Amino acid sequence: MSVTLDISDGLASVRLNRPEALNALSFAVLRELSAAFDEAGRSGARVLVITGSGDKAFCAGADIKELMGRGLVAQREGALLGQATFSKLGRLAMPSIAVIHGYAFGGGLELAMACTFRIATPNAKMGLPEIKLGLIPGYGGTQRLPRLVGEARALEMVLSGKTIDAAEAERIGLVNRVVEGQDPVALGREFAGQFTGFSRCASVFAREAIQRASETSLEEGLKIEADLSTLAFQTADASEGMHAFVEKRNAIFRDE
Ligand code: CAA
Repeated sequence: MSVTLDISDGLASVRLNRPEALNALSFAVLRELSAAFDEAGRSGARVLVITGSGDKAFCAGADIKELMGRGLVAQREGALLGQATFSKLGRLAMPSIAVIHGYAFGGGLELAMACTFRIATPNAKMGLPEIKLGLIPGYGGTQRLPRLVGEARALEMVLSGKTIDAAEAERIGLVNRVVEGQDPVALGREFAGQFTGFSRCASVFAREAIQRASETSLEEGLKIEADLSTLAFQTADASEGMHAFVEKRNAIFRDE
């Protein structure tokens, strides 16, 4: 298998497992990833962490050797497959964290950008180098990068194809944090610790509201927030959280 899924202690850990090709995303890998996200979604895990195997790369992007010589119809289908696979991450009930150690280029960075969060080790190198191949990003990069770092920085990265390091990625908001450690899954688990323990309902509503912010007008976004915050207010977890506050005890959330 080129993608493995482990589930333990509420953490779904998806690993790209093609180190000999720097975890490049062949179409078979995309299909395996899609199935792994479905299974993780069904598992009830509270957080999903994505890592790459080997110590060189998170993922070096689409499999260039496989792309060569493809027809336009097949190529468009491939782009739609990559986009649909990565978009699944945003629809999962749990937040997702990409742990970028080593290279994250092209489709690899696009996979990371589709996650809720990105953390990077100091050796990480990131970029959308498609322009150097005569291509442009096709798995969501032209849409998610400007939403994360703004149009000017996205244009600079995509039109130059330049590589940035972990420190710069943190500075421009492409990654949430630079973290040190040898075990990427452990780094993901540690980062995830700050998001678990709360009501899953509240977490899903909050993510949904924030994701919609970049897709709608302020007026429409505020209406979405009013609706989702009212939905959150109706949950048993909200009642428990507020009661726990006045009773000066820790809340016990049941995701209801
Ligand atoms: N596709 C297929 N194979 C790849 C690959 C990729 N994206 N990236 C690396 N590999 C393979 C290499 O061909 C090599 O295999 P062989 O030993 O059989 O030749 C092996 O992985 C190791 O790679 P290198 O020898 O090149 O390793 P390096 O340390 O010298 O360089 C690198 C590392 C800078 C990441 C370099 O491999 C590289 O530039 N890779 C391509 C990065 C890239 O352009 N990604 C974008 C792809 S297009 C895309 O993703 C479009 C999209 O939007 C979806």
